[in-house]
Amino acid sequence: MNPINHQFRLAARPVGLPKRSDWKYTEEPARDPGPGEVLVKISYISLDPAMRGWMNEGRSYIEPIKIGDVMRAGGVGHVVASQNPNFKAGDHVFGVLGVQEYATVDGKGLTKIDPNVAPLPVYLGALGITGLTAYFGLLEVGKPAPGETVVVSGAAGATGMVVGQIAKIKGGRAVGIAGGRDKCDYVVRELGFDACIDYKAENVLESLRRHCPQGINVYFDNVGGQILDAALACLARFGRVVLCGAISQYNATTPPQGPANYLSLLINSGRMEGFIVFNYASRYAEGVRELATWRAQGKLKTKEDIVEGFQTFPETLLKLFSGENFGKLMIKVADS
Ligand SMILES: NC(=O)c1ccc[n+]([C@@H]2O[C@H](COP(=O)([O-])OP(=O)(O)OC[C@H]3O[C@@H](n4cnc5c(N)ncnc54)[C@H](OP(=O)(O)O)[C@@H]3O)[C@@H](O)[C@H]2O)c1
Repeated sequence: MNPINHQFRLAARPVGLPKRSDWKYTEEPARDPGPGEVLVKISYISLDPAMRGWMNEGRSYIEPIKIGDVMRAGGVGHVVASQNPNFKAGDHVFGVLGVQEYATVDGKGLTKIDPNVAPLPVYLGALGITGLTAYFGLLEVGKPAPGETVVVSGAAGATGMVVGQIAKIKGGRAVGIAGGRDKCDYVVRELGFDACIDYKAENVLESLRRHCPQGINVYFDNVGGQILDAALACLARFGRVVLCGAISQYNATTPPQGPANYLSLLINSGRMEGFIVFNYASRYAEGVRELATWRAQGKLKTKEDIVEGFQTFPETLLKLFSGENFGKLMIKVADS
């Protein structure tokens, strides 16, 4: 008999912050894999700010989730049954598995992962999409040179903490912006950032001027809004702004706040460029290899924020928007 699978399916398009009634909790038997497919038992589900955007209607870099579909999510787990020659029972995999306990998916979308190299949760963070976002966004879009100052917002988050550490590995200065003293102390004392600005307690513009006396060479933006404006005001000549995300705007019910200080790009001959990590999909293996090497050498520290309990999904997702997560947020669904 097939195991019972529980799922969160999209029930309504949220207005503002999502609420539990925007999903329907469903139960059905896990489906046997067909030709080319694999049945995966999910261990950890990744919770990402992008999920909020996927719930909206309208054009984006990826199709919106349809009403009634299982909520889209990255996940890691192990193969239970396979009709794909590349996978066998017991293999550990990463893929877009959805907010559910079991996933029957095309093997083409799965990547094998090795729990001997790193624990499974790390493959949803520093050795997963957020680590790769930091890696390609900083190195390919930001292109920091040794000695340059890199500022990153969301600095204690999954993406931001990797950005600052790579900036240091590459011989730059790293200045973080994060919410609260604990997060700021962590990125400076544990991760080796040169400084961190607590945007909830400090005047960000004044603190940026103090910590970046030569200006900002690369600003890696995870949050948008007023913090983006403050960073633009401090841009160095030929400075680069990497538009990675704008979490301060994701739940807005009015059009997003644009950067008032955009003329700073003109007077500094600056560049502001958006990117999506999927643009680099053909190079993920290279990125994971280098990130894993830095991790093994002790140069890249990782932090995962693991919440127990599949049922908590709607409330746990909100931690990303309140800043209650500390590190890569995920839900543990089952032992691996
Ligand atoms: N372009 C891409 O391909 C790509 C891929 C992955 C992620 N992203 C983007 O990268 C960013 C970070 O994602 P993540 O997965 O690493 O999440 P994360 O940073 O681990 O978690 C989100 C953090 O955002 C901060 N935050 C929430 N509301 C905020 C606000 N109003 N103002 C300032 N900060 C706020 C909170 O930290 P504090 O406690 O410091 O406020 C929270 O912990 C997001 O914008 C996401 O959309 C982009």
